[in-house]
Amino acid sequence: MRPEDISPRIKYIRKLFAPEDSLLQTVDRRIRESDFPIHIGAEEGRFLQFLIKGLGIKTIVEVGTLAAYSSIWMARALPTNGHLYTIERTKHRAELAKKNISESDVAHKITLLHGDARDELKKLSYRGPFDMIFIDADKISYTAYLDWAEENIRPGGLIVGDNTFLFEAVYLEELPEGISPTARAVLREFNQRLSDPLKYTSIMLPTQEGMTLALKK
Ligand code: DHB
Ligand code: MG
Repeated sequence: MRPEDISPRIKYIRKLFAPEDSLLQTVDRRIRESDFPIHIGAEEGRFLQFLIKGLGIKTIVEVGTLAAYSSIWMARALPTNGHLYTIERTKHRAELAKKNISESDVAHKITLLHGDARDELKKLSYRGPFDMIFIDADKISYTAYLDWAEENIRPGGLIVGDNTFLFEAVYLEELPEGISPTARAVLREFNQRLSDPLKYTSIMLPTQEGMTLALKK
């Protein structure tokens, strides 16, 4: 659903601050050649790197690998002893992610977990608490992933949700085509919970898809 027509301002930012190397270009091409949803933009990948470096993040859990485009951006910002665990349920996506990760320079920093995120998160808990979680998976489960994050992210840690406009559905009165009322209720609750100033220092950024960011108090 992410539009192909990139605005001149985003093109400018990408060229100057977030150029893709040949590997990320290849990953992008492979995703476009498949029937996959579109991944985060390069400028968003660069922004996540900025946060990871700035906050000294060492451990990340990503829910929704797709083909590992975002995983590779994030892992590249991790220190040598840092690690990213990324979860993908859909088999053909996990297979492409595995190939992309294996061809990357950060394969040693990434563990790809193939399975349902609710199960995989439960199994991952013993490795926590984690510094960051990036939620970019099935929208209907965002509040379930947030439940896990609230338990397994350290104080001061970062929670990020992608697509938190839910393709405009979170703020429109009329439900856009193809969006379920349940998904809308879930995303509204997700953003509402993260907006709590008693629990978080948080903000929602008006990216193309909407990105909600919260530092746990
Ligand atoms: C879709 C999912 C995403 O996570 C995204 O960033 C863009 C589109 C989708 O399901 O269409
Ligand atoms: Mg997304």
